[in-house]
Amino acid sequence: MALAYAAFVLLVICIYKPVSSQQNHSNLISLGSSIFTNVPPTSWRSPSGTFAFGFYPQGTGFIVGIWLVGKPADIITWTAYRDDPPVPSNATLELTVNGKLLLRTYYANNEAGEEKLIARIEKSALNARVLDSGNLVLYNEHSEVIWESFNFPTDTILGGQNLYAGGELLSGASSTRLSTRRFRLTMQNDGNLVLYSVGTLVDAYWDTSTSGSFDTHLYLNYTGELLILNNTSGKVRSVVFSTDSESESSSIIYRATLEDDGIFRLYSHNFDSNGSYTTSLKHYAPESPCEVKTFCGLNSYCTMNDNQPDCRCLPGTVPVDPDQRYNGCERNYTEELCKVAEETSSYNIIDMEKMTWDEFPYFSNSMSEEDCRKSCLQDCNCAGALYESGDCKKVKFPVKYAKRLEDDSSKVFFKVGLKSVESRNRSIATAMKPPVVHKTSKKTVMLIGVMSVAFITCSSIAIAVSVFFISKSRVVKARMRLGSGNLGLAHELTLRAFSYQEVQLSNWAYELLVERELDKLDLGEDVDLQNLEKMVMVGMWCIQDEPGIRPSMKSVVLMLEGITDVSVPPHPTSA
Ligand SMILES: *[C@@H]1O[C@H](CO)[C@@H](O)[C@H](O)[C@H]1NC(C)=O
Ligand SMILES: *[C@@H]1O[C@H](CO)[C@@H](O)[C@H](O)[C@H]1NC(C)=O
Ligand SMILES: *[C@@H]1O[C@H](CO)[C@@H](O)[C@H](O)[C@H]1NC(C)=O
Ligand SMILES: *[C@@H]1O[C@H](CO)[C@@H](O)[C@H](O)[C@H]1NC(C)=O
Ligand SMILES: *[C@@H]1O[C@H](CO)[C@@H](O)[C@H](O)[C@H]1NC(C)=O
Ligand SMILES: *[C@@H]1O[C@H](CO)[C@@H](O)[C@H](O)[C@H]1NC(C)=O
Ligand SMILES: *[C@@H]1O[C@H](CO)[C@@H](O)[C@H](O)[C@H]1NC(C)=O
Ligand SMILES: *[C@@H]1O[C@H](CO)[C@@H](O)[C@H](O)[C@H]1NC(C)=O
Repeated sequence: MALAYAAFVLLVICIYKPVSSQQNHSNLISLGSSIFTNVPPTSWRSPSGTFAFGFYPQGTGFIVGIWLVGKPADIITWTAYRDDPPVPSNATLELTVNGKLLLRTYYANNEAGEEKLIARIEKSALNARVLDSGNLVLYNEHSEVIWESFNFPTDTILGGQNLYAGGELLSGASSTRLSTRRFRLTMQNDGNLVLYSVGTLVDAYWDTSTSGSFDTHLYLNYTGELLILNNTSGKVRSVVFSTDSESESSSIIYRATLEDDGIFRLYSHNFDSNGSYTTSLKHYAPESPCEVKTFCGLNSYCTMNDNQPDCRCLPGTVPVDPDQRYNGCERNYTEELCKVAEETSSYNIIDMEKMTWDEFPYFSNSMSEEDCRKSCLQDCNCAGALYESGDCKKVKFPVKYAKRLEDDSSKVFFKVGLKSVESRNRSIATAMKPPVVHKTSKKTVMLIGVMSVAFITCSSIAIAVSVFFISKSRVVKARMRLGSGNLGLAHELTLRAFSYQEVQLSNWAYELLVERELDKLDLGEDVDLQNLEKMVMVGMWCIQDEPGIRPSMKSVVLMLEGITDVSVPPHPTSA
């Protein structure tokens, strides 16, 4: 099968061989060949010179990858070790005499250098080639393919490339505003092709609705058709993007990339004889950036403005960071300990037309518009209600995935507070001293531990913290979290590894807080309950899932010192 596939790839490549002025046929990579960061050759080229594999300059270093060579700019189509920092100059790539493709990085204090395998293979390769399709292929002594970069796509598939069941494309971290957001295109085992937002919030925002056909894979063919094929028979099961054949030219390269804004785009690059290309966008999904669920941060909504997506704050909220409209918004009114105060007079309801959100309501019932408004106003948990065909669907704070659609009949009611954050002067505590604890119960130790971790996460140091507590002979794993730095792989793993108990722990602390039952902790008589409440509240802000709503270290200090007031945080796992 693999042989047949390789033969097929080679056949197709022979037919569709892009032309370029940079002809160089001495492109077989034999054992013992090397390329370097600081001296030529710095890359290995495909026969026509259309693609190169090697060191590509990035920042002050280099990435190891494959790129489409051309003017106006090269386009990177594959990256090795993409989550690692760029390699410093003074690195080499070698197809060793033992048949391994090896990256060696030298550091001043390490003579031997660091070695990383580019292709993880059991057996030895005899040689390698960069094909004109953009595939880096390693062969054994029988000229059989033993490894190919096409089987390990990063954010792109090229003409001739498959994405097998279970495979995925992961968007790169963007240099700009979406730096912590990542998106994933998954060819699911059930036959469905799905786009997901990943990170703190995991949610699908587009799919091909082709589930139910197992044994399928995605294939971008050489004329730009993106197809879901039966893996066994090769028959087309579904056409994802159908591209009008531009005069069947051999000088067109098709590329489908999941870009850092969460949109999956299919491009064609049409080369002229000088190695310059023109790009045209053939297809993309989803239709609107507003459908990318995490395009706008929490408590903001996405709206199209002159064909450009824009994020605006929901009523009663202001931008977390006025210079970063995509980072979400926060309440500018005080949320009293609602269950205690229960004063509807401090809230108001604001209506907005043509609005909707894709959030699961905690409450849904049919009622009149007026009753829906009232129901939200009188409900401490209600941040807003979506009113749609007679149904009142209430959601909690913070509000996710809100968007405004010109052709939508739904309506939303937002609850807004009348007392601003600044003017509030009924603070929970006066000055802030850490609570004095004489008699400590195990639960107290746990709580204090969680809060310490919480405060650490509020600092800007990107540090993963893992704290273990023993409670009632159970091991409770406290929240591990990275700070405000990049949402790295570790963070994702951490989120996936969330234990039931850990969620329970923060839930439990939150419940005690809103029920005002922290005194049940049996802390002894000297504990200033008000201070404890305040600390727990600040801690709860720090462990919010959405980085945008976690306070900065500065605000934490101000809150703890009683200079600014603390509002009741959203439920720690509600995001
Ligand atoms: C072909 O590539 C090799 C190594 O990459 C280089 O040494 C040689 O000069 C090139 N030949 C031409 C004709 O460009
Ligand atoms: C790395 O750089 C150092 C100093 O610039 C040089 O002496 C050494 O030979 C280099 N090593 C390689 C493998 O290029
Ligand atoms: C690509 O797929 C379309 C639709 O199945 C087909 O008509 C076309 O011939 C294919 N092109 C290649 C090069 O296989
Ligand atoms: C689909 O076919 C490819 C190529 O023959 C093979 O590598 C892959 O394992 C197959 N996938 C499934 C799910 O059968
Ligand atoms: C895929 O093709 C094989 C062989 O032709 C066939 O037996 C199988 O039913 C097909 N699968 C689907 C989901 O159509
Ligand atoms: C290629 O470059 C030459 C010289 O720069 C120019 O005269 C010619 O028009 C170019 N060809 C194309 C197809 O752009
Ligand atoms: C909150 O901000 C909005 C928009 O800036 C403003 O209209 C509203 O009056 C503010 N509310 C409070 C309570 O400050
Ligand atoms: C807060 O209340 C105290 C007395 O209760 C008063 O002295 C102080 O000026 C008030 N501060 C603000 C900002 O209203």
